[in-house]
Amino acid sequence: MKRALIIMAAMAAISTSAMADQALATAKNCMTCHAIDKKLVGPAYKDVAKKYAGDAKAADALAAKVLKGGSGVWGAVPMPANTQVSEAEAKKLVAWILSQK
Ligand code: HEC
Repeated sequence: MKRALIIMAAMAAISTSAMADQALATAKNCMTCHAIDKKLVGPAYKDVAKKYAGDAKAADALAAKVLKGGSGVWGAVPMPANTQVSEAEAKKLVAWILSQK
């Protein structure tokens, strides 16, 4: 129930603030390694959304990975820990990434 509410809130936030979320991604330097529709240092956000479509646990796991960094899912290049984002910002960014089509 709580999860459903969180998802609904996230979806409402996405529809009204997709532009704001991209601005946040830019401000937090995510876009230096990522683009929406092509691979840079890290995977394209559209590919991330495709990979985790239908995976209900993905959002939390990806938010944790954004915060702590990690490697091995898309290749050998690691994503460093993004210490400039808060947990709430990481969740917001991941919800935006997973909404890319
Ligand atoms: C220095 C480059 C770099 C920066 C900065 C960076 N990333 Fe990444 N990111 C990567 C790489 C490389 C991978 C692939 C890691 C792997 O293969 O496990 C990745 C993977 C990801 C994934 C998919 C993880 C998975 O397990 O499938 C997400 C989501 C993501 N990044 C979001 C972000 C967000 C949000 C930010 C900004 C707060 C950010 N990244 C900043 C390089 C970066």
